[in-house]
Amino acid sequence: MQQPIEWNQAYERGKDYATLTTLQLTELIHMLPDDLGKRHLDIGCGTGQLNRDMFHRGYQTIGIDTSDIAIKTADDSIDANNQLICFQVGDVFGINERQFDLITCKYVYTFIDNKDIFLKKVSELIGDWGVFVIIDPNILMLSDDKKPIALTAEDVSSQLSRYFDVKIVNKSKDVYYVCRERIA
Ligand SMILES: C[S@@+](CC[C@H](N)C(=O)[O-])C[C@H]1O[C@@H](n2cnc3c(N)ncnc32)[C@H](O)[C@@H]1O
Repeated sequence: MQQPIEWNQAYERGKDYATLTTLQLTELIHMLPDDLGKRHLDIGCGTGQLNRDMFHRGYQTIGIDTSDIAIKTADDSIDANNQLICFQVGDVFGINERQFDLITCKYVYTFIDNKDIFLKKVSELIGDWGVFVIIDPNILMLSDDKKPIALTAEDVSSQLSRYFDVKIVNKSKDVYYVCRERIA
């Protein structure tokens, strides 16, 4: 697979992205149904912080990212014998089993090339029981130089609503899009 070289260069320079605080993580979990299972996939996991956090909250978790440098850093951060957390280089199209209760995508969605095909694939992976959560920056809170690469909540929710019922939760600098299979 062709690597998105700019991500590798960023990670080689030691770049990382804002992590969720303990409170934000608790708020995320409270957005989920109480009876949701514990199989988690994070798409575009970067160095794996959200996976480590979800593991510590009782989830069995897989992180995927197209940057092999990010995945190497993520791999180095965990005990290789731990069967409940793992990382792999790739995108969502390399995942074939419908095996996840929760799929997250934090600060990644704006960079996904063909969003419609991506969302269709995610909708197939979560089926009728799972939850898909996109966490993206609130465009209104971004500095002017970052606004051009961000998406408005209206655009994201309109794209998501082709496949999901969407609940939008605004949390200071971030917007959470909590998606379930659309009930016809
Ligand atoms: C802004 S970073 C966010 C990383 C991580 N989610 C975090 O919050 O720290 C975006 C990440 O998305 C990854 N990425 C970009 N396009 C991707 C795709 N189509 N599939 C999987 N990962 C992708 C990049 O390699 C990069 O690690």
